[in-house]
Amino acid sequence: MKPTSAPQTYRVKSFGCQMNVYDGERMAELLGERGIQPAPEGEEADLVILNTCHIREKAAEKVYSDIGRLVAAGKENGKAPLIAVAGCVAQAEGEEIMARAPAVSIVVGPQAYHRLPDMLDKAEKGERATDTDMPAIAKFDALPARKKRGPSAFLTVQEGCDKFCTYCVVPYTRGAEISRPFSHLVDEARKLVEAGAKEITLLGQNVNAWSGDDDKGRRVGLGGLIRTLAQIDGLERIRYTTSHPNDMDDDLIAAHGEVAKLMPYLHLPVQAGNDRILKAMNRQHTAESYLRLIEKFRAARPDIALSGDFIVGFPGETEAEFQDTLNIVDDVRYAACFSFKYSPRPGTPAATMEHQIAPEVMAERLQRLQARIAHHQYAFNQASVGKACTVLVERTGRHPGQWLGKSPWLQSVWFEGEAAIGDLVEVTLAAGGPNSLEGQVRAKLSA
Ligand code: 5AD
Ligand code: SF4
Repeated sequence: MKPTSAPQTYRVKSFGCQMNVYDGERMAELLGERGIQPAPEGEEADLVILNTCHIREKAAEKVYSDIGRLVAAGKENGKAPLIAVAGCVAQAEGEEIMARAPAVSIVVGPQAYHRLPDMLDKAEKGERATDTDMPAIAKFDALPARKKRGPSAFLTVQEGCDKFCTYCVVPYTRGAEISRPFSHLVDEARKLVEAGAKEITLLGQNVNAWSGDDDKGRRVGLGGLIRTLAQIDGLERIRYTTSHPNDMDDDLIAAHGEVAKLMPYLHLPVQAGNDRILKAMNRQHTAESYLRLIEKFRAARPDIALSGDFIVGFPGETEAEFQDTLNIVDDVRYAACFSFKYSPRPGTPAATMEHQIAPEVMAERLQRLQARIAHHQYAFNQASVGKACTVLVERTGRHPGQWLGKSPWLQSVWFEGEAAIGDLVEVTLAAGGPNSLEGQVRAKLSA
């Protein structure tokens, strides 16, 4: 390969989950240390990082078509960008990518991106570099300090998954469950707040499996971490995602009733409402045990908003079994949900199970499920009308003088008035639509 000159500008394109968004930010910070700047809006970057997601279908195809587009654009303006593929497709299919796409210089997995600078050194000499190791030494120690971002920041506290749900690639692409140390997290949270964050969302594939030793050497779970983070001055809101029902403990549940900064919102995927399907998915909980858990959260924090993930058309799912999924949606009355057609992932047990469901059956079930979810989301928004709450302003609205932010229940709220990004504004929720609410300003709490 021809030697390439050192890139001056970069673009990171992150797909998939919030953990990828977090990883994308950290890669951007690494590039910043090297003096590489974000490419100005509308301009081609010298270095493009495709930070990929492997959780559902056609992930790899999407990567190849993105690469093709970058190569074509490079030819058109006479300057081929350096292309790096990161994230879970890199982890799962790194070798194939290197073989199939000569335009790619770097393949880097989600546990190895702290080594990006070395890989860039190689790429600048015209060599290609692959790193999909999962080193025991946490990459986080090797990353530079956090940089200023918006008022709402992500903080990865836990990574990986030991649950092995039969449909899911995460245990293979992200590896075993690890918890970052308590002191590192408190430190990173402080830095994020110093950089302007008002809200921190703690991230992990099984975030509620986090555990560590606190500053007094006591073993604590996520509830203990949240109680400590809540003492940081200037941090106003704490959230966490994504949880597994079996990793919930009483302290975290209690924290919802005791820690004012912990927002009344819980994302707790159930995936399906039928016990035979849950067993085939290896979820290790039943519909009933899930519902009992939800009741505990509601007892601790009666106004808690719930959200979930659902998969329709898991192999062998009958119409009656699918009805159980609709039933659990009605039982819980979710405020929001993510729902997906089952997608066979290579290497997972479910991909080779008998009785794969026809695409048109899945599409029709998804439509019915989404209608039911939308019904409850709208009802939740309607029921919020008249409530007073804070809104954390994240951006300007569509029209001049309008602002957009999130309610404690993670609803999008817009309002008109004097404000700035990062303000916490007290509003009365005045009107509720399917996807957002209108607020009327009562008072501005903090700037
Ligand atoms: N097919 C469809 N959806 C999936 N998810 C995970 N794996 C698959 C798959 N193979 C969904 C689950 C999970 C969310 C992040 O993605 O609902 O909670
Ligand atoms: Fe995937 Fe299940 Fe682990 Fe969630 S708990 S990441 S769905 S294997």
